Order: sequence, then C-alpha cells, then structure tokens
Amino acid sequence: MMRIARQAGDMIVQARQQQNFTRQYKGGDELVTEVDVAVDQMIADELESLFPGEARLTEELAPDRSQLEQRGSLWIVDPIDGTVNFAYGHAHVAISIAWAVDGEVHLGVVHAPFLGETFTAVRGQGAQLNEQPMACSQSKTLERSLVATGFPYARDRRAPLIRRLNHVLHACRDVRRNGSAALDLCHVGCGQLDAYYESVLPWDFAAGLLIAREAGASTSHLYACPEGLPAELYGENLLVSAPGIHAPLANLLRDADAGQRFDAGHAPNP
Ligand code: IPD
Ligand code: CA
Ligand code: CA
Ligand code: CA
Repeated sequence: MMRIARQAGDMIVQARQQQNFTRQYKGGDELVTEVDVAVDQMIADELESLFPGEARLTEELAPDRSQLEQRGSLWIVDPIDGTVNFAYGHAHVAISIAWAVDGEVHLGVVHAPFLGETFTAVRGQGAQLNEQPMACSQSKTLERSLVATGFPYARDRRAPLIRRLNHVLHACRDVRRNGSAALDLCHVGCGQLDAYYESVLPWDFAAGLLIAREAGASTSHLYACPEGLPAELYGENLLVSAPGIHAPLANLLRDADAGQRFDAGHAPNP
C-alpha cells in the first residue's frame, strides 16, 4: 500500500509541475480534475492486480456507499484528498488508502507528497509517520487546544457549521482549515493538531481514523448511525482528539447543533 500511495504521489507532483490538467465540477460546486480520476484508476488497477475481485469504494470511480453494507474485504480510496489545495498549489494534499474487513479498518496509509509525510497504521499495532512511531498530543483543556475542521462544497449546507465554529472559536486556542480531512486526522495523530471534527465520507476518513486512533487519539462519531450498518465507517460527524478533551469537545459540538444535525451525505438545508 505504501508503494502504491507513493506512486500516486509521484503522479500528483508531476501533474502539478505540468499544470495542464483539465478541471470539472460534480454536484454543482465540487471541483474534480483529470488527475483525481487518473490516480483513482491507477490505484484501482494496482489493487486489482494484487487482490483480484476484491471490492473497492473510491471517490471518483466507485463511490457507491452501499458496498459498506457487505461483509468481507473492502478497499477504500481517496485518490486526491485536498483537490482544491492541489489545484491552487497548496501543500496539504494526500492519497488515502484503507483496507477494511466486515466494516472495520485494519490497514491505513495516508501519503502527502508535497509535505514528505507518509502515515501508516495496522489495527492494534500503533501508527507511524515516515516509519517512526508517533503519538497524539496530551492536551487536557479546550482553551489550550488547536482544533481543525472543514466545510462542505455546497454553500447552502454551511450554516450549521458556522454555529459549531462560533462555539469552538469561543472555547479553544484557535482553528485551522487545512483542506485535507485525511491529513487533518493524521495530524491529530502526530500532535500537530489537538482535535479535528467534520462531516466527511468514508474515503476521506477511513485510513486517517485508524492512524489517529492507533496513535492514541480518541475517535468517535457524534451521532449513532442507523442500526445494522457498520458504525465505524458509516457514521458521520467525526470527532478525533487528544483523549483529555474528547468529552468536552463532543458536548460543545452537540450543544452547538442543538437539534440541527448535519451529515455529509444527507444534510438538511438550514
Ligand atoms: C475534501 C477535503 C476537505 C474536506 C472536505 C472533503 P476532497 O475532500 O478532505 O478537507 O473539508 O469535506 O470533501 O474532495 O478534496 O477529496
Ligand atoms: Ca472531492
Ligand atoms: Ca476527500
Ligand atoms: Ca478526493
């Protein structure tokens, strides 16, 4: 998986140097480039040759989330997490590859080619940054905590998040919006952030969630997912943080929501 992620990273770096990739929009506001699709295809081809016939859930080529309801092996891939950063020349861009069995993630790789960071984790065996062990921060108070988040592409779905942001900004040290959910999760894992919350989809968070958890972070979904579905991968409204601030931050976010629940896949209009 590390080899494939680094190969994808090389494609992304080269494409940025050439700067002649086409850009399109899906769902109205979401930018997608031909590089997103090409990297998704390359990873699919590699996985198919190594693990023929195994199911894949990938953002650009196979985004059908009903695959999460099947038992067995599932590869979950975000070919470029941080497409907007990629297109604008920012460094927070990552390839995320996870392997899940029966709805639980067992392996995760997040590779950030412009940062020179490769995060890996195996369930129950800890997490690594560039093959060195890593650990999350030990922050114990919200007022001394740096918190990251993100926002959906659809502008009419942002109002509930502005309420959350208002609460968090009043309670915490500061807020970051770095533009790659997978990296935000890994950066909680290595202590560059104390917490991260957002409503994101399985390809955004599958690998990073395992990496953060294996680095000692507390991970949860703020609201239970429908019964019978795999909670680890299906739940939305992710919260990942240093263990000492998890409960107060969860309470703060639920207070901000005050009944106005917001999910990435099916958000109510404010
Ligand atoms: C996005 C990034 C961003 C997050 C969005 C995601 P994409 O993924 O992870 O940080 O705020 O919610 O959709 O579209 O760049 O792969
Ligand atoms: Ca996208
Ligand atoms: Ca993503
Ligand atoms: Ca993506």
